[in-house]
Parts: sequence; C-alpha cells; structure tokens
Amino acid sequence: MNDEINVLTPVETTSCCGPDCCDDTAAVETAQPEARQEIPQTNAAIKSVVREKYARIAVGAESSCCGSGEVACCGDDLSMIGDAYDDVEGYVAEADLGLGCGLPTEYANLSSGQTVLDLGAGAGLDAFVARRIVGDHGRVLGIDMTQEMVEKARANARTLSYDNVDFYLGDIEALPFDEATVDVVISNCVLNLVPDKATAFAEMYRVIKPGGHFCVSDVVYQGEMPEAVLRSAELYVGCVAGAMEREVYLEELHKAGFTNVHVVKERAIDIPDEALPSAEQEALRQSGSVVLSVTVYGEKGIGAS
Ligand SMILES: C[S@@+](CC[C@H](N)C(=O)[O-])C[C@H]1O[C@@H](n2cnc3c(N)ncnc32)[C@H](O)[C@@H]1O
Repeated sequence: MNDEINVLTPVETTSCCGPDCCDDTAAVETAQPEARQEIPQTNAAIKSVVREKYARIAVGAESSCCGSGEVACCGDDLSMIGDAYDDVEGYVAEADLGLGCGLPTEYANLSSGQTVLDLGAGAGLDAFVARRIVGDHGRVLGIDMTQEMVEKARANARTLSYDNVDFYLGDIEALPFDEATVDVVISNCVLNLVPDKATAFAEMYRVIKPGGHFCVSDVVYQGEMPEAVLRSAELYVGCVAGAMEREVYLEELHKAGFTNVHVVKERAIDIPDEALPSAEQEALRQSGSVVLSVTVYGEKGIGAS
C-alpha cells in the first residue's frame, strides 16, 4: 500500500449545516451510506485519510460535527458531541468548525503569562480561548497536521491581531518543540485520531515543563467496541473508531509518566442511528458499549525530567 496516496475515496457528502439541509429528506438522503471503506493498514495511510477529511472541512467542502460527519449537524443529537462555547470568553466563531468534543480550557487551570500548546488546533477554537486567559504576556502554540487548517487558524490570528498565538504544521507524534518548554497542553477531540497514542502521550510529556500539566477532551469508549465499528474508516475520521477504551487511555497516560491523571468531566455520546450504517448500528446496539466524551487532566511532576 502506498502511504502517501489517499486510499479511501470519500463518500460524496452533502453539508447538513447549510440553510437547506435540515429537512427530513436531506437527512435521509445523506444517511446510511452502505459502502464504507475500512481503516487503512498503516499509520501513515490512516493519517492521510484523516488529513484529507479535515482539509475538506477547513476549506468548507464538507461539514462535520466530529460525529460521523454528514448527518451530524442537523439536530441537537450530534452537535451534542461538543460543549457549548457561546458564553466562553475568547470564543471566536470563525474558529469553531463544530469539531470539538469538550471544553478543555474549562479545567486546564490556565493563568496569565503561561505558554500553552494546543494539539490538533484546527482553526484555533481553543487556542483563542486560551489566549484570552494567558493574555499579552503568555503565548499560545497550536499544531495541526492539516495544512488547510493551519492556514485557516493563521488567518484567524491575523484578523484578531494576535502576535503571541502561532500555528505550526506538524504531527503530534513528533512535536517540533524542545523538551520542557510549555506549561500546559490542551487538546480537543484530536488524540483519538492519532494512531500511535503512546507516542503522542510521550511527546506531550516531553514538551511539558516539570510541574506543568495537560487537560484534554477526547472520545473514549467503555465495553467491547464491535469490530465492525472499529474497522470503519469513516467513523475513524469522525472520532469514534480511533477511540480507546477509557481505562486503557488513562493507563497509557500513566505509562507516559503523568501523575494525578483523572477524568474531570464525562458524558455519554448518543450516536443517532442515521449516523451509522445499519450493520454498525446493530453491532453497537448489541455490544452494549458506550461512547464517551471525557475531559482528562494530568500532571508532570516537579522533579520530573
Ligand atoms: C476533530 S478536529 C478538532 C480540531 C480542533 N481541536 C477543534 O476542536 O476545533 C481534529 C484535528 O486534529 C488534527 N490532527 C489529527 N491527527 C493529527 C496529528 N497526528 N497531528 C496533528 N494534528 C492532527 C486534524 O488535522 C484536525 O484539524
């Protein structure tokens, strides 16, 4: 398999966030695509699929609420996956592409002057909220592997005239930052998309200063996630199939060296039937497994190297 080419032909999609998308007919027509592609075999190929999906979202060719995409935005059901930002200071509507699954800054204990790193920053949603808190004397770094997202985030930062918010093109599995350089790592609905989570967690640990911490929102599951769901590439880029089992996720963070790792917020995500092809729907129902949005906090000890 060639890692550099897109191995998945995306299902043609119709945005459901547009003005004429929410009548029942549109929802039914875009629902239940039966011909799903399976998750590619290599990490590089998975990233290629993920990158393609988020590039399309960044340029407005596709909408997603980080559910499973196409039918995700119409009702309250899948916009469910993200938290409401309306009253959050620093919220920038242009940076909100409906891709989050939590509000990591809520429990990130941010304060003036800190350096914050946002992993998978997208168009800058949480980076700008963090900037509001760290202020003129702090610094916010965002990283994303999708060029189109980085361009969008940079354009947003220019519009806001922020000169202490910088967006980088790069991979969370190989962060382009020196060790012990950031106070706080945040992330919103991204780590589930990273194939090698142990490496991603190790990279988080490396760049955080001793005494620093992280607060990330993500999708995990409890119970046995059915093979049919795990195999679905479209669910992967929609943040479910790449998710880890909750306890394994927390354990991996411990293994990376973090202490005081705990879930600060959690809620079940109710995936509407129309967001899944019938086979996956049935498999998920039968399994009794639950998909969760979690916000997780953890620390790098003061004496840690
Ligand atoms: C679900 S979106 C979330 C975007 C943003 N955090 C938000 O809430 O609006 C996931 C983002 O993570 C990025 N991403 C996925 N895997 C990545 C990786 N390995 N390294 C860097 N960015 C990644 C994607 O390009 C995409 O922009």
